[in-house]
Amino acid sequence: MRSERTSHGLIVRAPAKVNLFLEVMGKRPDGYHDLNTLMVAVSLFDTLEFKEDSDSTIRLDLVPATEEPGDEDRPLLSPGPENLVWRAADLLRRHVGLSDGCRIRLTKRIPLAAGLAGGSSDAAATLLGLNRLWRLDLGTSELMTLAAELGSDVAFFLGSESAWCTGRGEIVTPLQPTTPLWLVLVCPPMGLSTARVFQALKTPEQPVDGSGLRQALLDGDIQAIGRGLFNRLQSTAEELCPALAELRRRLAILGGVGQLMSGSGTTWFVLCRNPDEAHRAARNLDQLTRENLVSRVHVVRSCF
Ligand code: C5P
Repeated sequence: MRSERTSHGLIVRAPAKVNLFLEVMGKRPDGYHDLNTLMVAVSLFDTLEFKEDSDSTIRLDLVPATEEPGDEDRPLLSPGPENLVWRAADLLRRHVGLSDGCRIRLTKRIPLAAGLAGGSSDAAATLLGLNRLWRLDLGTSELMTLAAELGSDVAFFLGSESAWCTGRGEIVTPLQPTTPLWLVLVCPPMGLSTARVFQALKTPEQPVDGSGLRQALLDGDIQAIGRGLFNRLQSTAEELCPALAELRRRLAILGGVGQLMSGSGTTWFVLCRNPDEAHRAARNLDQLTRENLVSRVHVVRSCF
């Protein structure tokens, strides 16, 4: 994630992520789950603009980029202390003992409760943006510690375009794949709460190994990536939200090298061989949109 100076302040673009692999290794005494997951940042971005403010309040203005039909089924975003952006700004300020305020304008394009970690990415963008705007000069490892306090997948967005993540998700090993991936993000009208999915999950006795998928990504072997796609949370999400199982069945005939639900859902992605195949697959989703199984479709590229 890079920040750009403007005449008034600073702009940061916060990408969405997908999980190409997600296995739950076990439940922890603190109530969280240990994960093995491979995350990839993709080209669907929220935009955050940061400006200094003369008083000491953190002011967050929310701008929905588009009104999408069906989005009324998703939770509403708050501009106050419940918002992860507000909390990231406040945490950073308390950490360094600063009382400065700021104005943050957040343009939302990443759907909420969608398994795309939009809120976590916005929080990481806030740590990076305000670290620069307020000239704090905190290093990556210090920001990583603050990120982990805000949420399990915030740290991923601080420096990686793809990474193997363990622990709660906050232990990040960056990967350096060279071949870009093309995907179609398929967002249903309803969202799912991450906590709810983890709560309903039965942890596996025999965890699936993701090292093959990880190697396939580094090799740029798209067929092997397609074969290795795996998400432990998928069947639980489908039990909680049966429309997702119907969506899976309908996406299976769409083409591409594989399909998977991202994170705790509800977004699915179709992995494609090239941009043409991705745009073709996206056009074939019109019928699912008419049936209200799908509310948004985005053709995206990995950020690497
Ligand atoms: O860390 P974050 O706030 O994003 O997590 C949201 C919820 O998802 C947690 O409260 C927890 O219930 C669940 N979770 C989990 N194990 C993880 C990550 C999240 O159980 N590794």
